[in-house]
Amino acid sequence: MIEILTLAYPWIKAAHIIFVIFWMAGLFMLPRFFVYHQEAAEGSPEATAWVEREDKLATIIMNPSMLIVWVLGLTLAYYLNLWAQPWFLVKLLFVTALSGYQGWLMAYRKKLSRGERPLSGKRLRMLNEVPGIAAAVIVILVIVRPFS
Ligand code: HEM
Repeated sequence: MIEILTLAYPWIKAAHIIFVIFWMAGLFMLPRFFVYHQEAAEGSPEATAWVEREDKLATIIMNPSMLIVWVLGLTLAYYLNLWAQPWFLVKLLFVTALSGYQGWLMAYRKKLSRGERPLSGKRLRMLNEVPGIAAAVIVILVIVRPFS
């Protein structure tokens, strides 16, 4: 197992980063879609088109990318035996929070598709800062390793 991982390690890491990019792109785009969706009149063809776009982004890009990032990231962690490294545990905390944020986005998407609009456009725009901040912290943790 470890021999296979040694050979595959750079490829697994490359794939990890590629799917991080896809996942993050989705995390940035979906709340934007919500803002445009909420600007369309309720029940209009425009609103229906946004429901479809949100569904596609969530099911084709975001959910599979998040899953692949987790599987590849945990494989890298297993290979490097990082379970006791403080920077890695803090990274896991932030990535878990980011995954929870995605769960919240998926629940909001379902509410929007039922015609509910719980948050204002301004609130949604503010929430859009969450993935950017989390990504910056995660990349600093992985590259600078401030607590290693
Ligand atoms: C989903 C859970 C995640 C796990 C379990 C995980 C785990 C890992 C592990 C173990 C490595 C290898 C570190 C090394 O080579 O020393 C790695 C690399 C990396 N991860 Fe993650 N990761 C996850 C999510 C993310 C996310 C969300 C981001 C960015 C927003 C990210 C960015 C990176 C980067 C940039 C590298 C390459 C660092 C280097 O040059 O070695 N990871 N990840």
